[in-house]
Amino acid sequence: MKGLILAGGSGTRLRPITHTGAKQLVPVANTPILFYALQHMADAGIREVGIIVGDTADEIRTAVSDGSRWGLEITYLPQEAPLGLAHAVLIARDFLGDDEFVMYLGDNLLRDGIVPFVEGFGAAQRSEARAAAQILLAPVPDPQRFGVAELGPDGSVVSLVEKPEVPPSDLALVGVYLFDATIHEAVRAIDPSARGELEITDAIQWLIDQGHRVRHEVLAGWWLDTGKLTPLLEANRLLLEIVEPSNAGKVDEGSQLDGRVEVAEGAEITRSVIRGPVVIGANTKITDSYIGPFTSVDRDCEVVHSELEHSIVLAGSRIDNVPRVIDSLIGRDAVVSRSHRRPRANRFLVGDHCQVDLDS
Ligand code: TTP
Repeated sequence: MKGLILAGGSGTRLRPITHTGAKQLVPVANTPILFYALQHMADAGIREVGIIVGDTADEIRTAVSDGSRWGLEITYLPQEAPLGLAHAVLIARDFLGDDEFVMYLGDNLLRDGIVPFVEGFGAAQRSEARAAAQILLAPVPDPQRFGVAELGPDGSVVSLVEKPEVPPSDLALVGVYLFDATIHEAVRAIDPSARGELEITDAIQWLIDQGHRVRHEVLAGWWLDTGKLTPLLEANRLLLEIVEPSNAGKVDEGSQLDGRVEVAEGAEITRSVIRGPVVIGANTKITDSYIGPFTSVDRDCEVVHSELEHSIVLAGSRIDNVPRVIDSLIGRDAVVSRSHRRPRANRFLVGDHCQVDLDS
């Protein structure tokens, strides 16, 4: 079995961060989202993984390299434009050959990985219940916002509907799919949708309409589509909850670390309170500040005279004299500063290399 990870796309819902960087490389708990997908592939025993890349190809190649740190062999598959999830399958044809494969959206995060999902498909393929595809579903309170599956009495998928006004079930499609080689026929047979994309839901519906069996599994642990700010912060919160406390940095006597706090090598905490769960990246300096629960500060940052909570700060940024930063995503090498302290909370989505001066 091969793996196909989709790390192209335009990322409009996470602008301005995605003007300068790949959304799949935004770190949660200081690890890029995409790295969790790569680890999940490796855990499922997959070795050959193709990564679909778009405008941010160089950044993804630099971060993932040849994949050897996960024991994977990576092939990069450039997509000229984000023409749809089924288009990604179309251009991966030569890489995939006739092998079965797992397709994983590079901005999705699954707590428990994909091992049971892949094993479920393998077992079905060895039985009479052979299927051309397997989808992963999760119950959601608001199915109107998702692709939703309608199931038949035998548990097979009868139809898939995108963002239905009257949902046939509360089971939303999670961004992990399994296919055999029949999908290549499907992605060639369908037409682009109204938004001009080759939709994977249409390709799966084509399989069903042609009489192929589509299995499903229901996800037990949490899953998030991190393409927007709120789920990204939620993913960060959920992953920080399982961080193991550790301190490889320098914490002075005037500072206090409470609960699950991970301080990486070279980090310095001075006259500050860090209330976990929190991760502080390598060589980051926290001085005269308060870092509250569910915050990830990446490497090479500086936080001075400031308070941060429930936020993600990317590498190389500086937050200076800002009384309260909450529910925020601060891009790489950004500066947020003010010379006078005013007692207000601030919520930011700051792009890479930006400078926010709160005095003006
Ligand atoms: P989406 O989040 O559906 O699309 P997008 O990245 O274009 O984002 P937005 O809606 O905010 O503009 O994509 C899911 C994943 O698949 C994501 O990792 C990007 C990737 N992708 C591709 O690689 N190629 C494509 O043609 C598309 C549509 C998405």
